[in-house]
Amino acid sequence: MKTLKIAIQKSGRLNEKSVELLKNCGLNFENYKSSLISPVSNFPLEILFLRDDDIPEYVQDGIADLGIVGENVIQETEVEVSYLQRLGFGKCSLKIAVPNNNTIQSLADLNGKAVATTYPVILGKFLKKEGINADIRTISGSVEISPGLGLSDAICDLVSTGGTLKSNGLKPFVDVMSSEAVLIGCKDSEKDDLIQELIQRIQSVLRAKE
Ligand code: PRP
Ligand code: ZN
Ligand code: MG
Repeated sequence: MKTLKIAIQKSGRLNEKSVELLKNCGLNFENYKSSLISPVSNFPLEILFLRDDDIPEYVQDGIADLGIVGENVIQETEVEVSYLQRLGFGKCSLKIAVPNNNTIQSLADLNGKAVATTYPVILGKFLKKEGINADIRTISGSVEISPGLGLSDAICDLVSTGGTLKSNGLKPFVDVMSSEAVLIGCKDSEKDDLIQELIQRIQSVLRAKE
């Protein structure tokens, strides 16, 4: 018999809520921190624990049938996947932020400035739309420390509680996009019966929470 695969975040903001949602669907599995794949004992499903950034492509390519990931990551990777369900957790926004003592006051002040981010695609589209010509510096993490190190004038990163910005002497400046966790599926396997059953279980867990 066929076994489905669902990809969820291995560690980070979405991990715990993703595991909780699947457990609430009545799925039995071990959530070992060290194993990257966990079989479900009472449903033909395997859970893949991945870096969130890799999830959209795994789903697009059909390596995983389903995935739970932030909308921001889907937009950044520009993949072709089906949006199946908004999940109501992991709410955050992608923002441009500047140092507290900065003279940048309007978007136009970003012209000629360096902005560090792990979201160059989304930021590039946003700046283009706004007619701003800034230098996008793509880095793979710890974006918030880059202004303090003299590597950039501003940053563009996800803000949830705002704690990371605050502890790095930064203040939010402009909202680029808002995001939450969504269930995505591979375009080719959308109509599969097992997938439909899983989606229905997820939707009834969400309805029970309303
Ligand atoms: C985001 C972002 C910040 C942090 C902000 O990381 O990159 O580091 O969360 O949260 P706060 O406003 O509550 O302090 P995320 O958890 O998405 O992990 P990742 O960037 O490693 O994927
Ligand atoms: Zn990530
Ligand atoms: Mg981060």
